[in-house]
Amino acid sequence: MRIAFIGGGNMATALISRLFASRHNVDRIQVADPGTGVRERLQKQWPVTCFKQTADALKGMDAIVLAVKPQVLPMVLEEIGSLVTSEQLVISIVAGIPTSQIAARLKSNPPIVRTMPNTPALIGLGITGIYARVNCSLAQREMTQNLMESAGEVIWLDKESLLDVVTAVSGSGPAYFYYLIESLRNAGTRLGLPVDVAAKLALYTAYGASTMAVQSDLDVTELRHRVTTKGGTTEAALEQLNAGHFEQLIDSAINAATKRGQELANKAERL
Ligand SMILES: NC(=O)c1ccc[n+]([C@@H]2O[C@H](COP(=O)([O-])OP(=O)(O)OC[C@H]3O[C@@H](n4cnc5c(N)ncnc54)[C@H](OP(=O)(O)O)[C@@H]3O)[C@@H](O)[C@H]2O)c1
Repeated sequence: MRIAFIGGGNMATALISRLFASRHNVDRIQVADPGTGVRERLQKQWPVTCFKQTADALKGMDAIVLAVKPQVLPMVLEEIGSLVTSEQLVISIVAGIPTSQIAARLKSNPPIVRTMPNTPALIGLGITGIYARVNCSLAQREMTQNLMESAGEVIWLDKESLLDVVTAVSGSGPAYFYYLIESLRNAGTRLGLPVDVAAKLALYTAYGASTMAVQSDLDVTELRHRVTTKGGTTEAALEQLNAGHFEQLIDSAINAATKRGQELANKAERL
């Protein structure tokens, strides 16, 4: 794989580090980023070649990963619009920007995939939703899969609009789990536990429960039932969550995030 990253920030660094850690067949990695410090850091850590000018990083690459902030993307597309060839695969990890918006600015009609990773990608435990436009070859889909799999699991979607739901569930998802961990910590503290003890209990319970659920063949509902004894403490807590309409609350939260994702995508279409 010969990959150019446009933008050498958090997500690009995560993918580059995971690509080298996972020993994928990486022939060449080039990065374009305006930050001198960013370029120096990347070149010091990995065998990558960095460029200040975006245009310089593209030549001879099989794939071009768009890894800049959404507000910077129009400028980048303007710059690379006539340079990307029809054989180069464009992989966008930019949140909320539809592929039609990217395609409209790239003159050679290259294949484009849009991905939605999440921050645990930084430690190789991410999950990424991927949508490929019809003109992506099987080899290009495999290249995308290899790149994103180096940072965790991948899920392919056959409708681009579903990426808004992926963004709501897993893209924003880490924040919901952090909120739950914070709430457990605060509740334990209010009932008398020292804050560091409550924090550790909440954190390792989340870690243990999710690791067990990932490793188990059982559905999470069954795992929950197995912890819940009739008339016991877990049941008393779950009754309170149900009385507060916990599931409906999560449902409205995910609906709100999905709707916001659609609004942002529509706004981007009008840029
Ligand atoms: N972080 C997440 O959880 C997450 C999850 C899914 C998707 N994403 C998406 O991933 C993308 C990158 O996010 P990030 O957190 O990695 O952002 P980031 O850390 O800010 O990285 C973006 C990098 O691009 C550089 N840049 C700015 N203008 C450029 C240009 N014209 N050409 C090349 N590079 C340029 C920036 O430099 P300066 O800082 O000097 O401007 C910065 O180093 C975003 O679109 C985001 O939506 C992020």
